[in-house]
Amino acid sequence: MELKGRTVLLTGASGGIGRAAALRLAAAGARVALFARTEGPLAALASEIAARGGEAVAIAGDVTRSGDCAGAVAETTRRFGGLDALVNNAGIGYLRGLTEATDEEIDRMVDVNLLGTVRMTRAALPALLGRPGAAIVNVGSMAGRLAPVNYAYYSATKFAISGLTESWRRELGPRGVRVTLLLPAAVETPFLERADRARALGIGPAGTVLRPEQVADALLRALRRNPPDLYVPSWNRVFAWFDVIFPGISDRVMNALFRYPGRKR
Ligand SMILES: NC(=O)c1ccc[n+]([C@@H]2O[C@H](COP(=O)([O-])OP(=O)(O)OC[C@H]3O[C@@H](n4cnc5c(N)ncnc54)[C@H](OP(=O)(O)O)[C@@H]3O)[C@@H](O)[C@H]2O)c1
Repeated sequence: MELKGRTVLLTGASGGIGRAAALRLAAAGARVALFARTEGPLAALASEIAARGGEAVAIAGDVTRSGDCAGAVAETTRRFGGLDALVNNAGIGYLRGLTEATDEEIDRMVDVNLLGTVRMTRAALPALLGRPGAAIVNVGSMAGRLAPVNYAYYSATKFAISGLTESWRRELGPRGVRVTLLLPAAVETPFLERADRARALGIGPAGTVLRPEQVADALLRALRRNPPDLYVPSWNRVFAWFDVIFPGISDRVMNALFRYPGRKR
């Protein structure tokens, strides 16, 4: 899809990957509907985009509320005359052991990461159908293909995103809506601190930390070329493949990478 003049609704736009993607999208000539809960940073980002000659609208809302999702789609189409692409990027993560996580933390991750993507996509689909080159990008995670220790509940939501993206791709592709799964490794955003950096990162390749701009570039590639999935970095596909073919060896490798000697927790 050529991005110039196309309308993209982006969730989780107020910070991290979403903010970087919004700036990149606007610079490429897309009209961007910025969605997140906190109004201040969204409005500031919309002004920044306008000051650079781009087009953006800030829409405050919560993906855990169906009404907010429907309202975001209505406001986007009212403002820009239609919707060409949806990026489901809003997400949260708590990295906890099996009995460590609270019920509220588990519920919250399911509600935002999984059900938030479902709500927004169901709200947006009628507007996307019939638009030439329409696209959906779901921001999953490498942890949605391969789950290290302490990632169980977060990974469960991201494995769910992998599954529903694969099925939606096969359901919607023939109807003219291309669906892509984006699978980033760890990214330097506030998410990493909130999730617990010491647990999030391993050693060696498991310690790779991307810049949000690298993921934003991949996200634009996903919208332009509509691949089925996109790993960032691309060589992570090999680790995902290895985990499926050799799960026993992968257990030992993953625990060596994430629980190396001297590690405090
Ligand atoms: N950072 C990483 O290491 C990493 C790695 C792989 C995948 N990811 C995925 O990438 C995506 C973006 O993460 P990030 O690193 O950019 O995180 P971030 O910096 O914490 O940003 C998260 C964004 O989501 C929004 N958000 C959170 N809850 C929301 C809700 N209920 N409704 C609407 N918006 C909500 C936040 O804004 P408000 O708080 O204002 O709502 C914020 O704009 C997530 O899906 C995450 O799982 C992150």
